[in-house]
Amino acid sequence: MNYDKLSEEELLNLINMSNLPNHIAIIMDGNGRWAKKRFMPRNFGHQEGMERVIEIVETASQLGIKYLTLYAFSTENWKRPKNEIDGLMKILVLYIKRELDKLCKNNVKLNILGDISALPELARKEVKKAIKNTEDNSGMALNIALNYGSRDEIILAVKGIIKDIEMGNINIEDLNPGIFSNYLYTKNQPDPDLLIRPSGELRLSNFMLYQVAYTEFWFSDVLWPDFKTRKLYEAIIDYQNRDRRFGGI
Ligand code: FPP
Repeated sequence: MNYDKLSEEELLNLINMSNLPNHIAIIMDGNGRWAKKRFMPRNFGHQEGMERVIEIVETASQLGIKYLTLYAFSTENWKRPKNEIDGLMKILVLYIKRELDKLCKNNVKLNILGDISALPELARKEVKKAIKNTEDNSGMALNIALNYGSRDEIILAVKGIIKDIEMGNINIEDLNPGIFSNYLYTKNQPDPDLLIRPSGELRLSNFMLYQVAYTEFWFSDVLWPDFKTRKLYEAIIDYQNRDRRFGGI
């Protein structure tokens, strides 16, 4: 559907507040292309991408979304030039320094999906501090996927399960999808209802492969730095018009 003629407020009015997706996951993509179009370095795009992170976190939490997952840095992103990686880590630190008080004020709880032990010391320290300071918050859970790869996550889960079987904590016969989920970074969280990928790419890029079995996908050509509040509203409205059958009829 084309929503261009509607104002942000009109779009908000189209959202059915009693049928919000519980969990929204976003593959933030297109920062580099956004910067290139402006003849600027890629990190300029990532900086503007951070402004959208701030905006979308605020919008989602105000709407009453319970879980928001943002894919910020993949296990494959280490292949990028050092100056881009350094820039991304600086932006992460800047984001936490700028937003931690607001996250607390808005009752947002920060979780990290991924292995943060490989992050530079300052980034690791700030991330740990933000997790600690928000751990008692009971509002929206904000998952930031950092040094995250879904295949690594699944292998880690398998290793954890084997260990628990060996130690007699679980029986192999009892293993089921629910128990398996408890070994993933998203332990105790519902699977995403809606997965959003901007920037025109139509792939999952090693993101939440186990968790998206019945997730509704929503793609847009808009680049992440242009993904403002109204785009989130559009995705939610479209999601609410889908017929989710979960394999039933
Ligand atoms: C993909 O776009 C984006 C990333 C790898 C980084 C995402 C990071 C941010 C949005 C910065 C802020 C994040 C936080 C959590 C504060 P790309 O660079 O691959 O874009 P391209 O495909 O156009 O090159």
